[in-house]
Amino acid sequence: MDTTHRLIPEHPYESYDEYLKQYGGKSPVLKARQAGPDTVIKEVKDAGLRGRGGAGFPTAIKWTTTKNHPCPTRYVVCNASEGEPGTYKDRFLIQKNPYATIEGMLIAAHVVSAKGLYIAIKGVYKREIARLEKALEEVRAKGLLDGVPFTIIHGPDSYLYGEEKALLEVVEGNEPMPREAHYPPFEKGLFASIESPNPALVNNAESYARVPSIIHHGAASFRAIGSPDTAGYLIFTLCGDVAKPGLYEVEAGITLRDLLNKYGGGPKPGRKFKAEISGVASGVVPESKFDTPADFGSLAKAGGGLGSAGFIVMDDSVNIPRVAQTLTHFLYVESCHQCGSCKSGLREASLALNEFCEGRTGKSDPIERALAAVMGGSQTTRCYLPVEGGLMLPSLIKNFPEEFKDQAAAVAAPMFATPKIKDYDEAKHVITYDAHYSEKQPDWTYAAPGETVLIR
Ligand SMILES: Cc1cc2nc3c(=O)[nH]c(=O)nc-3n(C[C@H](O)[C@H](O)[C@H](O)COP(=O)(O)O)c2cc1C
Repeated sequence: MDTTHRLIPEHPYESYDEYLKQYGGKSPVLKARQAGPDTVIKEVKDAGLRGRGGAGFPTAIKWTTTKNHPCPTRYVVCNASEGEPGTYKDRFLIQKNPYATIEGMLIAAHVVSAKGLYIAIKGVYKREIARLEKALEEVRAKGLLDGVPFTIIHGPDSYLYGEEKALLEVVEGNEPMPREAHYPPFEKGLFASIESPNPALVNNAESYARVPSIIHHGAASFRAIGSPDTAGYLIFTLCGDVAKPGLYEVEAGITLRDLLNKYGGGPKPGRKFKAEISGVASGVVPESKFDTPADFGSLAKAGGGLGSAGFIVMDDSVNIPRVAQTLTHFLYVESCHQCGSCKSGLREASLALNEFCEGRTGKSDPIERALAAVMGGSQTTRCYLPVEGGLMLPSLIKNFPEEFKDQAAAVAAPMFATPKIKDYDEAKHVITYDAHYSEKQPDWTYAAPGETVLIR
């Protein structure tokens, strides 16, 4: 197998020297420093690298904007908070190969002349933190940090921590509360004042990790992998109803059908695929559209989304209103309630779906109410979280309208487990969800162990 541009080695790299063997012992960080910022940006641009954090934003544009900002105090921040349901790829990457992310950050720091670097990860990801600390010491010992401070931030176990403006708040020592929409990280970065906005470059852990091999091998060889829309490899998480759940690094543009059959082992015995959804931030893709290439553009066109390439797979045993109930509840519980569209809109949608799934009858059609609630007011929000509800819920209703007319079937169906991934046993191909998630309350405290919190 050609391993060029692949991030996941067969066995975890045991040392920085072992990682560097693929580059003949010479770090791509040194090559990037010799080449200079403009050449590096050109390579990243020509490679067609798109951010792996969910939105697929072109990485080179972000780097250029930060580099050209008139404020001389700039920071490089890595989003390793990984909170999207159905996704485990950043933790898997850090376990196997923490060096690529660190090197990618150092290359970015050279490009934007950063005064400091931060890796923002959840405090509960202890194994990954230990791995990063050791890797960072090895890279420091090689003299590659150049005296610039490099800090690992142990943040909260909350979904909003992954939102880039909330992430910067956490780096500053605050709660994960997204800033106003008019303060993107490249306008108000870290420890900003009116005189000094200190822009921050925020990229996902995998986005940074893709850069060293682009610098070493050149843009063209990276661009040749994947699809015209999305270059390179993706680290897919396949969870839910597949025979072989797991983490798979595969070329972007493979069809969903091939991905789920060849890598995911097909449906579970005796079952048929029904649909997949990438986290909670996009629409659902029904099985009839499984010939869609798994890349940003194609999945968006099919009404779904690539997101962070974590696919929650559903088979014919799954009741879709129950999926809607669980995912909407997740968004409401995780929201910070600073904007009306989360505080009231997602709450109302969650209430209405609970009413439907519990067989209660209210004053009006609960599905109509839920739809109206998630579609309202998303233009004025601080972050994208309520927009996610406005994509996910209408798409589930549109694709499976009959199921939303059958209240008795929803009542009879079991609760859909929140696919917030806690762990992955690679040898056994077992992905474990956070069993305590159902205890989390909208004020982010936890109810008694075993208690399921539902909004009524
Ligand atoms: C509610 C919410 C949660 C998010 N969670 C994550 C996350 O866990 N990891 C991540 O990289 N990006 C997450 N994002 C996206 C980030 O805001 C940001 O777009 C990303 O870090 C940019 O990196 P990229 O350009 O390299 O993709 C989240 C966004 C929202 C609105």
